[in-house]
Amino acid sequence: MNRITVAVLYGGRSTEHSVSCVSAGAVMAHLDRSVYEVIPVGITASGTWTLGPDDVSDLQIVNRSMPVVDPHRPRVALGLSTDDRGVLRFVDGDSAGEEIARVDVVFPVMHGTHAEDGTIQGLLELSGVPYVGPGVFASAAGMDKEFTKVVLGAAGLPIGQQVVLRPGTETLTAADRERLGLPLFVKPARGGSSIGITKVSRAEELDAAIAEARRFDDKVIVESAIVGREVECGVLEYPDGRVEASQPAELHIPGEPTGVEGETEGVAFYDFDTKYLDDVTTFDLPADLPGAESDRLREMAVDAFHALDARGLSRVDFFVTADGPVINEVNTMPGFTPISMYPQMWAASGVDYPTLLDTLLRTALVRD
Ligand SMILES: Nc1ncnc2c1ncn2[C@@H]1O[C@H](COP(=O)(O)OP(=O)(O)O)[C@@H](O)[C@H]1O
Ligand SMILES: [Mg+2]
Repeated sequence: MNRITVAVLYGGRSTEHSVSCVSAGAVMAHLDRSVYEVIPVGITASGTWTLGPDDVSDLQIVNRSMPVVDPHRPRVALGLSTDDRGVLRFVDGDSAGEEIARVDVVFPVMHGTHAEDGTIQGLLELSGVPYVGPGVFASAAGMDKEFTKVVLGAAGLPIGQQVVLRPGTETLTAADRERLGLPLFVKPARGGSSIGITKVSRAEELDAAIAEARRFDDKVIVESAIVGREVECGVLEYPDGRVEASQPAELHIPGEPTGVEGETEGVAFYDFDTKYLDDVTTFDLPADLPGAESDRLREMAVDAFHALDARGLSRVDFFVTADGPVINEVNTMPGFTPISMYPQMWAASGVDYPTLLDTLLRTALVRD
């Protein structure tokens, strides 16, 4: 039987370049090689497409050194005209133009800008090659924290309060300060992995937090802090069109309230180091929620997936407050690192890592 050729795309011009490399290493390590022929395609931090090494399964987070795509690897290009559909070729030297493979399906294991935001998806649409995950619109809407809330709110799903600071708008109006209160979360509108996010507890810290977020995106989101438990839920689409939610997981982030009013210890939110470097976050899987509340949250995760017009997969992140769940964000290409929640939530729901990947690829292929 012929194997299915899958190009795994990773890296890219994104603040989450390294996270993507680690995700892709784990994906490639778990793909069933008797079914899939794997072509690693690493996109450098400056945007050059390269043929990755055969074995990237050892891309791990070791001692805070995060992997990057090697710019000295051979350059490649994916055919974009439909008569060259899915053909990956060498670009340089004697082998320029030589065909490496005809790709059946692409798995863009990429996070953040130029990756999870509809840009790669648009390129793959043009090339006509099927790919894992949602299309241009859902990717773009899921990446932009302003429009995620616009879409979810219009679908009647519970979201928090936000103010959007567009380019040229320096800070909050007095009325917005009053309405949002303190603490605040200040974020780049199109970011990820907590990069550029600051929790603001005192009014005088606000402008520095806005400047920090602006280093990553000239559109900035200011949200009121939501008091609640952080619970995530995976959504997966099957080849027959069924869309299911995983068991939810609750994250326990160090720096939770000490019990003294207004005081916390440690980072107090799920920042980059907590996510990937410090190995300090623990979780309950499944989350310790009453059955009815867990069912409701899982339904909302599937509703959010449909509201955004997503496909394939999503990870929907909630705050579970005293008044019920509030959706924080929808990740249309969640992390696949060995410590990432999405594959772990599916494993806890009876779908092991290789089966999860197989499901994602087969769902992509039926859309062909
Ligand atoms: N409005 C909020 N209220 C309370 N905590 C928040 C809020 N927004 C973000 N956080 C904290 O910051 C983390 C990162 O924010 P998030 O919006 O998920 O950004 P990213 O896309 O970078 O993951 C969250 O996991 C949570 O710990
Ligand atoms: Mg998040």
